[in-house]
Amino acid sequence: MSMATRTDTRSPALHVADSHDLIRVQGARENNLADVSIEIPKRRLTVFTGVSGSGKSSLVFATIAAESQRLINETYSAFVQGFMPTLARPEVDVLEGLTTAIIVDQQRMGADARSTVGTVTDTGAMLRILFSRLGQPHIGPPGAYSFNVPSVRASGAITVERGAAKAARKTFTRTGGMCPRCEGRGAITDFDLTQLYDDSKTINAGALIVPGYSVDGWYGRIFAGCGFFDPDRPIRTFTRTELHDLLHKEPTKIKVDNVNLTYEGLIPKIQKSFLSKDVDALQPHIRAFVERAVIFTTCPDCGGSRLSEAARSSKISGISIADACAMQISDLAGWVHGLAEPSVAPLLAALHHTLEAFVEIGLGYLSLDRPSGTLSGGEAQRVKMIRHLGSSLTDVTYVFDEPTIGLHLADVEQLLGLLDRLVDAGTSVIVIEHHQAVMAHADWIIDLGPGAGHDGGRIVFEGTPAELVAARSTLTGEHLAAYVDT
Ligand SMILES: Nc1ncnc2c1ncn2[C@@H]1O[C@H](COP(=O)(O)OP(=O)(O)OP(=O)(O)O)[C@@H](O)[C@H]1O
Ligand SMILES: [Mg+2]
Ligand SMILES: [Zn+2]
Repeated sequence: MSMATRTDTRSPALHVADSHDLIRVQGARENNLADVSIEIPKRRLTVFTGVSGSGKSSLVFATIAAESQRLINETYSAFVQGFMPTLARPEVDVLEGLTTAIIVDQQRMGADARSTVGTVTDTGAMLRILFSRLGQPHIGPPGAYSFNVPSVRASGAITVERGAAKAARKTFTRTGGMCPRCEGRGAITDFDLTQLYDDSKTINAGALIVPGYSVDGWYGRIFAGCGFFDPDRPIRTFTRTELHDLLHKEPTKIKVDNVNLTYEGLIPKIQKSFLSKDVDALQPHIRAFVERAVIFTTCPDCGGSRLSEAARSSKISGISIADACAMQISDLAGWVHGLAEPSVAPLLAALHHTLEAFVEIGLGYLSLDRPSGTLSGGEAQRVKMIRHLGSSLTDVTYVFDEPTIGLHLADVEQLLGLLDRLVDAGTSVIVIEHHQAVMAHADWIIDLGPGAGHDGGRIVFEGTPAELVAARSTLTGEHLAAYVDT
């Protein structure tokens, strides 16, 4: 096992004289930290180690990242600060050389059905610009290729104030790429009617089997008293119109027992009360009903691509933006590379570069139309990293908390490659990590301990991985030595 491959090519650059190259922490006392003073090299990979409860989070998050956030907040105007939480200054005497800290965590990305790998990275936006420039037929600006932008048409009078003001009628249209049928979700909901009612029964005998719609309940009374159908006839004998009114009728004012009410068909009512919420937030019996009764099917209009017909019709060498987003990213990178179009060369280069980054960190098998909520924790973290790789911020500090959690060894290798790229781009990378491969790869290791709580909170080692192994003075050193020897 080779170690410290990077320390061979880059010295840790701990020239104390040049304090610009260091983040200096003096007298940190958050939680269990015992007046800790350390120096972290900038533009290097620094790994914090130590047993659980030794104080890693207290130092990295509660002290360094917290102070960075506080300093950023202070740069806003007093007015804006009024809307932000007041952050207490962490318990620390000196914190120097701090740069903006960006925390990249493993939290799953929001389960918002509208967010995809393409939308959470810049790739989706870049593809839309590309298609708006090169797509044939030309259908409009980038928004015309976005499934989050609906088409809008408005008309009315506008007043032009010029000399004697005069009004003119104008029509305004904006072409969006959203599939109108599924509203950009890619799926539509269908109902299994046998889960909504028993068609051999009458409404008054309890035909409705939707939770909360019993005959003696509130909704039961509305359906029995609305007058659109006979509550004493079995539903299977209803006419087409009666069945339509039962299932789909648009909101209509009615009077039941002299009370003014609004009647609405069963299906829009269920959609509003049960389906507008996150399925996980529903009460268990309602959730069970939704899972029984609602069938999510691919939208027949857009075939699940979420895009309008116009957006799908516009192509670059036979490929639509929907096709491009459905391609495996490694294939898409090849396709983009093959487009020789001088007018958009910088855009193509940037897009290709980002797509290649996916491939390099082992995510080439994903596609841009993959809903981001379906990514695993590790995949999500790496996708978030890609978002940062493209950013032009260099003087920032990335903070990762155990990025290897749940990764296989091969993925750990890819992760290390990604951390290297961040460092090579000129950023400082701080990682809290137990994985020996990451420790061995570090430029600098800071080991907290020796124990947890009161028994921890001190720096038991700081130096290169090679020095940690040579010293074998700490538990972490013993473990790393054993790993490196294998
Ligand atoms: N908000 C707090 N208030 C009081 N004590 C705290 C607080 N946060 C952490 N501690 C204590 O400080 C000590 C260090 O905690 P810390 O979270 O920094 O450990 P850690 O090294 O990050 O551990 P882990 O590997 O489990 O994340 C622990 O004994 C913990 O119980
Ligand atoms: Mg912690
Ligand atoms: Zn659709």
